[in-house]
Amino acid sequence: MSNISKKNNQPIGVFDSGVGGLSVLIELKRLLPNENFVFLADQKYVPYGEKTKNELIQLAYKITDYFINQHDVKMMIVACNTSTCNSISEVRAKYTLPVVGTVPAIKPAAEKTKSGTVAIIATPSTSKSEVLKNLIKDFCSNVKVLNIGCKNLEDAVETGKLDSAEVHQLLLKYLEEVKNSNADQLVLGCTHYPFLKKSIQNIVGSGVNLIDSGNAIARHTKSLLVNNILENSQKKNGKTIYFTTGDPVKFSKVASLLLKEQIKAKKVKI
Ligand code: DGL
Repeated sequence: MSNISKKNNQPIGVFDSGVGGLSVLIELKRLLPNENFVFLADQKYVPYGEKTKNELIQLAYKITDYFINQHDVKMMIVACNTSTCNSISEVRAKYTLPVVGTVPAIKPAAEKTKSGTVAIIATPSTSKSEVLKNLIKDFCSNVKVLNIGCKNLEDAVETGKLDSAEVHQLLLKYLEEVKNSNADQLVLGCTHYPFLKKSIQNIVGSGVNLIDSGNAIARHTKSLLVNNILENSQKKNGKTIYFTTGDPVKFSKVASLLLKEQIKAKKVKI
């Protein structure tokens, strides 16, 4: 007898404040090609990195309700470090839906370092969060950590101007401390930053290993789907639909550039 219920073929909801979450979606689609996804960019409220904890909790509740009520999702991926670090415990306490979060990859960085120093760049809100402080406490007792909060960096990715002079200046400013240290691991603690990998690597040099969380999230999502017998049973490739609470034309243009495929998003009010 088959265990497959109607829920298996429901989509997985993925959200971020903007296009950054696409760096996680790329990994999810690579590892789970038969799944259907609904991607929501909450661009009306980008940047999340300058919101208070309470504001982030309210936004996460609204998005979870939207995914459940409008798309009947079987699982939700918070493809945003800022939202995860500030609201995932509250979301998990309120809903029974399985929720996967994104936290900065501090643990693998601490395990890999040979120099004994790791650096993390993240939004100001993630940088100050209790979740990040606890990750550092739990995994970096013998490791020096440079915790760098970066204002406005996500904006470069939102506009699609990945190689602009402004972005280069911002990166030089935020990465100076990393360059002047003996850090050999740099954690990209915001899902927007993997799209700036090339420029970041050029600045810090090839001796610094960049770590983001996208692949680990995809692997964790897969094991949750398997353990909960929630995998999609379809043999064909899954479909992804895209929504934004901001400007759909702008989102579609930048997302198509980042995904290297043409997509068309719809505007949604939530
Ligand atoms: N992409 C987000 C993160 O991973 C947040 C960017 C922002 O809106 O500030 O933290």
